[in-house]
Amino acid sequence: MRNSSAKRLFNRFLRVKLPRQSGGDSHVKTVATPRSARSAGLFLALGLLCLGAAPGPVHAEGEATNPAVRERMALMKDIGRNLKSIADMVQQKVPFDSHAAQAAAGTIATDAGRIHTLFRPQESDPASEALPAIWEKWDDFVAHADKLASAAQAIDATSAETLAAGFRPMAGTCKSCHDNYRMDD
Ligand code: HEC
Repeated sequence: MRNSSAKRLFNRFLRVKLPRQSGGDSHVKTVATPRSARSAGLFLALGLLCLGAAPGPVHAEGEATNPAVRERMALMKDIGRNLKSIADMVQQKVPFDSHAAQAAAGTIATDAGRIHTLFRPQESDPASEALPAIWEKWDDFVAHADKLASAAQAIDATSAETLAAGFRPMAGTCKSCHDNYRMDD
């Protein structure tokens, strides 16, 4: 019961297959144009917006009580908030703001750099969605965190176009880590 429908939507959107640059089936090829690639990013953004629309703790009984778990979940929420602020611009929901976008990307990079510290202790909580695989394959988990940090550092918010181009690979790193290390439902 701890999963809100917004959470499910978020997961579903993050599982969406992104078009590959080359290869794959013909459908993939037809959408692998810059314009469509951008739509895929927007599609992804919609899922994130669904998540952002969830007002606070929608599953009160599912709130973590273990402080270490609360802290790592708060870190993820902060990453989520900052990703959403970029997604809103990419989606043209709010006007492009180079400075704000660059700051949000910087926060994500900093937060990503704290993932390995906050997840290192194998703390548990009934509300946690962390999978034991995190600690079984610790190096790989950390590599995922590093990929997010690099993708966030690579964000170039000079223009709306460069921002959109960097958004998709960055959001892809959320999905690949969640697919492996976070419960589906
Ligand atoms: C290195 C792996 C990893 C990366 C990269 C990652 N996450 Fe997470 N995320 C997790 C894990 C594990 C959890 C579950 C933590 C828990 O419940 O204890 C989680 C949980 C979350 C949550 C739910 C927090 C809560 O309070 O329930 C949000 C939101 C989230 N991540 C957003 C993001 C976004 C957005 C990105 C990309 C910009 C991202 N994450 C990248 C591993 C990752």
